[in-house]
Amino acid sequence: MRNYVVGGNTKNFGSQSAIRALLANAKNNSEGVDVVYYVPDVYFVAAKKESGLKVGLQDVSEKPESSDTHYAATTSMLKDIECSEVIIGHSDNRKLESDHGKFTLKVKAVTIECPKTRICFCCGESKDERDQGTTNAVLDKHILQLIDASPNWENVVVAYEPVWAIGTGVVALPADAQAACKHIRNFIGSKVGTEIADALRIQYGGSVKADNCVELIQEPDIDGFLVGGACLKAEEFKKIIASCKQ
Ligand code: PGA
Repeated sequence: MRNYVVGGNTKNFGSQSAIRALLANAKNNSEGVDVVYYVPDVYFVAAKKESGLKVGLQDVSEKPESSDTHYAATTSMLKDIECSEVIIGHSDNRKLESDHGKFTLKVKAVTIECPKTRICFCCGESKDERDQGTTNAVLDKHILQLIDASPNWENVVVAYEPVWAIGTGVVALPADAQAACKHIRNFIGSKVGTEIADALRIQYGGSVKADNCVELIQEPDIDGFLVGGACLKAEEFKKIIASCKQ
């Protein structure tokens, strides 16, 4: 059985003290569930200190070092701060990055430069793509970029995060989320083997709340959640973690 994994992505909200309080709450309620918080780069060190919880960053540059001044942390920085978790492919830049093959570059860079860092690989379609019936083709395109990077699959979690559900309050129907997660698992299985696909944890993300998580987690191919807005509310996030206790 796959151990459920719940990620909280604070995005660019919060303060040092607020984030530390959220982490403490999650830590106190995390027994039996793999819980991680992704925080803004500037708060990472303060957040990680004494938290006892897995803490990660929300993006990474594909370059070990770089002269870009407003880009995500580089892979050498991830290594330097011993960052064990990172998101790649979050919705903000997903289309641009996938169109330019950046997913492969980023996953490859982390796999090689920071082999101990676990990647949360986000994928999923836009509203237009869903309306056009191309959801599975979009998922295949994103996932192929992950596969092309030859990641260490033990250090990968995939998050199905349809863009239209992120931060909108519109959550995917459990059956639709299940269909997409199952498609992802089958596609990966067909490319790299069913043993890897069966062990891989696939999260659903997009307007997950305390009042919709219980139904979603019943679906057989949903192995946890990636949570934005609701992870900023301690009680709400506690209930989401609780829904994943097996
Ligand atoms: P949301 O964000 O839960 O606020 O929709 C999800 C995410 O961006 O990962």
